[in-house]
Amino acid sequence: MLSVGVFLFLSYSTAPVVLGVPPIKIQPEQVHLSYPGVYGSMMVTWTTFDEADSMVEYGLLGGKLFEMMAKGSSTIFVDGGSEKRKLFIHRVTLSALRPGFTYVYHCGSGAGWSDIFYFTALNESSDWSPRFALFGDMGNENPQSLARLQKETQVGMYDVILHIGDFAYDMDEDNARIGDEFMRQVESIAAYVPYMTCPGNHENSYNFSNYRYRFSMPGDTEGLWYSWNVGPAHLISFSTEVYFYTDYGLDLIVKQYEWLKKDLEESNKPENRKSRPWIITMGHRPMYCSNNDHDDCTKFESLMLLLSPHITKLPQPLLNANFARVDLELWAHEHTYERLWPVYGFMVYNGSREEPYVNPKAPVHIITGSAGCREKHDGFIPDPRDWSAFRNSDYGYTRMQVFNSTHLYLEQVSDDQNGKVIDSMWLVKEQHGVVAWV
Ligand SMILES: *[C@@H]1O[C@H](CO)[C@@H](O)[C@H](O)[C@H]1NC(C)=O
Ligand SMILES: *[C@@H]1O[C@H](CO)[C@@H](O)[C@H](O)[C@H]1NC(C)=O
Ligand SMILES: *[C@@H]1O[C@H](CO)[C@@H](O)[C@H](O)[C@H]1NC(C)=O
Ligand SMILES: *[C@@H]1O[C@H](CO)[C@@H](O)[C@H](O)[C@H]1NC(C)=O
Ligand SMILES: [Fe+2]
Repeated sequence: MLSVGVFLFLSYSTAPVVLGVPPIKIQPEQVHLSYPGVYGSMMVTWTTFDEADSMVEYGLLGGKLFEMMAKGSSTIFVDGGSEKRKLFIHRVTLSALRPGFTYVYHCGSGAGWSDIFYFTALNESSDWSPRFALFGDMGNENPQSLARLQKETQVGMYDVILHIGDFAYDMDEDNARIGDEFMRQVESIAAYVPYMTCPGNHENSYNFSNYRYRFSMPGDTEGLWYSWNVGPAHLISFSTEVYFYTDYGLDLIVKQYEWLKKDLEESNKPENRKSRPWIITMGHRPMYCSNNDHDDCTKFESLMLLLSPHITKLPQPLLNANFARVDLELWAHEHTYERLWPVYGFMVYNGSREEPYVNPKAPVHIITGSAGCREKHDGFIPDPRDWSAFRNSDYGYTRMQVFNSTHLYLEQVSDDQNGKVIDSMWLVKEQHGVVAWV
C-alpha cells in the first residue's frame, strides 16, 4: 500500500501523466481461426496481455452450449520494439469435429471469456466445392474492402479466407499496437472462417516475428510455408520474402525450396492428383505484373521467377519442373487486380484463342492486392506485355469457388463500385498435371 501511495505521489509531483499499476488484461481478444490441415479440426488463436489459461468451450449449434471443452497453451511473444511489449498468444486445437456441422464457441479461461462466435467444420469430401475470399495488402488504416467482407462472411458466403501477405501496415508499428488493432479489426471475419495467410514484405520487422507469433498455420514452419487440402484442391502457401530478406538466413531459401519440391512431387502423384486435382499456390510477390511503381516485376524481371522453371537460361537442377504443374498461382503485393493469360516463360499458352482458359497449357496467374491500405492504389504501365489479360485498380478482392475436378470460378469485386463484379472467369481443365500441357 505504502509503496503505491509514494509512487502515485511522485508521479503527481513530477509529471502530469497518469502513472500507476498497469491494468490487468486477461480478457481474450483478437480471436481468429485457422485450419490445421487435419480433417475434423480447427485451431482457435487469441491474445491476452497477462498470463491466463487457454481453453475453448464449444458445442453444436442448436445443442447444449459449451458442452465440450478443449485445452491448449500460450506462447509469450515479446515484440521487438523499444517497449518490448509482451503478448500471450493462446492456441487451442479442436478435433473430432463433424464435417459440415456448425459449432458455437467462446475462448479464454475462468479468468475471462471472449464473445460467442461460430464456425462450420470444413467438409472433408473432395467432391465439395469450397468458396473463398482472397486478397492481399489490407491495412489497419484505409481497409476499404473490410466492411463488405465482414457482411459477406456474416451471411455465410465464404468457407475460407486467404490473406496473401501484407497485414496492418505494419503489425510491428507503435510497439505492435497496430498489429493488435488490426487483429481486432479482422476478428469479425477471422473468428468465423479459417483465415489462412502467407508473409509479405510488411511483416519483415524483427525477422517476421509479428507474423510468426500471431498466426497459426499448418505445419511446423511458423506459417512461413505450408500446404493443406480442401475440397478438390491442394493449396500451397509460401514465403516470397525469403528471397528478399536474406539477412534472416539464406538457409530459409534452401529449406523452403526443398520443401516445395517435395510437396509438389507428393501432390502430383497420380493417386493424390486424382482426389485433389487442383494445385493452387499463394505467395505475396508476383512473378509477373505490369504496374508502374518501379517494383521488381517491371524494373527487372521478378526474383520470384527463380522458383519457376520458366527461365530456360537457368541450370535445370535449380529449377523445379513440378512447379509447371500448378494450375493457378495467386499473388498480391501490387495494389491492383490483374488477370493473366496462361503464361509460361513469358509466353502465352492459351487453351485456344476463343477459350484461353479451357484446357490452358500453362498456369494461370491472378494478382489481387487491392484490399486497401494506407499506401492506397498502384498504377499500371501503359503498354502491358501480351500475357496481361485484364487490369483494374479499384479497391476490392477476389472470390473463388473450386466447383469440382474440372471447373474453377474466379471473380473480382470492386469496392469502389459498391460491390460490382468487374471481372470473372471459368478455368476449365479436363486434365491436370504434365499431361495437361502437351
Ligand atoms: C460434403 O460435400 C459433399 C459434396 O458436396 C456432400 O455430398 C456432403 O453431403 C457434404 N457433407 C456434409 C456433412 O455436409
Ligand atoms: C528467422 O526466423 C526463422 C524462422 O523461425 C529462423 O529459421 C531463422 O533462423 C531466423 N533468423 C535469424 C537471423 O534469427
Ligand atoms: C490468348 O487469348 C486471348 C483471348 O482470346 C487473345 O486476346 C490473345 O491474343 C491470345 N494470346 C495468344 C498468344 O494467342
Ligand atoms: C463441374 O461444375 C460445372 C459448373 O457447375 C458443371 O458445369 C460441370 O458439369 C461439373 N462437372 C462435373 C464433372 O461434375
Ligand atoms: Fe507487399
